Amino acid sequence: MRVVVPVESAPGESRVALTPEIVQKLSTRGFEITVERGAGVGAGFGDADYEAAGGTIGDGAGLFEGAAAAVRVAPPSADEVARLAAGTVVIGFLAPLSDPDGIERLRTQGVIAFAMESIPRITRAQSMDALSSQATVAGYKAVLLAADRSPKMFPLLMTAAGTVAPARVLVLGAGVAGLQAIATARRLGAVVSAFDVRPVVREQVESLGASFLDLGVVGEETEGGYAKELTPEQQAEQQRALEERIPDFDVVVTTALVPGRPAPRLIPANAVERMADGSVIVDLAAETGGNCELTRPGEETVAHGVTIIGLTNLPSLMAADASRLYARNVEALLDHLAPEGELVLDWDDEITAGACVARPEGVTA
Ligand code: NAI
Repeated sequence: MRVVVPVESAPGESRVALTPEIVQKLSTRGFEITVERGAGVGAGFGDADYEAAGGTIGDGAGLFEGAAAAVRVAPPSADEVARLAAGTVVIGFLAPLSDPDGIERLRTQGVIAFAMESIPRITRAQSMDALSSQATVAGYKAVLLAADRSPKMFPLLMTAAGTVAPARVLVLGAGVAGLQAIATARRLGAVVSAFDVRPVVREQVESLGASFLDLGVVGEETEGGYAKELTPEQQAEQQRALEERIPDFDVVVTTALVPGRPAPRLIPANAVERMADGSVIVDLAAETGGNCELTRPGEETVAHGVTIIGLTNLPSLMAADASRLYARNVEALLDHLAPEGELVLDWDDEITAGACVARPEGVTA
């Protein structure tokens, strides 16, 4: 089957859905890959690299002609959707929970859309888990940005000119991104504390050499391992406790999310006010409104002397490795949907049915 990798059209998106490494692998397994001219440039992969890997380069009106699938990172533009033939499979981060209009557009066009966000987080689907692979990159990059913006060095240094105290880093939300942020900050030598409402996380935090910050709030976990939204009373308690503790930290990385809900508000403006000048907050939840009241999604700002980074697509800033990981997730999903290089859509399968966010009526097999 023919698979097309279009140029990403979302502003600021530098990742690409397939890398030459994966094009080469898929090409030997019966897939014909067409990469739109320049699609990999933002991630450091040239057209010649794709050709050497067995792909072909395409562009213009005929790009999607005869394509069984289009694989991408961010959702397709309305123009691109209009160019897809009914029955084409579309794979990408399609924002099913936050962009119902985009999903409706795909449905109206009659394409079969699989959202990487909707792949069930079960053991069998771990190789396809792009939420995790990209969260890992985001957690790593968040700490590097914080270290860069902070006027403090991260490690404890004992020099002839005296001792430099280590930076104190707080990570709020210790899921995939948070755990990677903890590990990265530890490697840089910071003293790290972390908090999450899911009690099971304490052990994971401690095993990475960080201490668990007890804020006196314990939330519940869904069957899928996600946090449930806190009650308004618990939220107020969490904000109050944080307001008290936050001045102790030089850097705060926040990653707290509740699927399908606006980001929980953890850091009120008056807590930011209490932080020392030069402190840094990196808010990984900026896209869904932010964990900090003063976060401006997509921007880096300074409030009360504190740098607040609300960039919404950190993985794109590490486009090469983020794309390498993402491409392996896409490869695993393609193999699942088309085991011998041809589509065999089994709607009784938990992964196929779970990831599908739009399909024309009557598409049953
Ligand atoms: P996420 O991105 O939805 O949320 C990030 C973190 O924020 C979570 O740990 C959550 O508990 C925390 N959080 C929510 N509200 C909070 C609040 N008010 N204060 C502090 N923290 C708050 O979660 P993510 O990182 O995508 O994964 C969550 C969990 O899902 C994992 O830890 C794991 O248990 C499970 N998972 C399972 C996988 C599998 O294949 N079985 C793969 C990946 C994740």
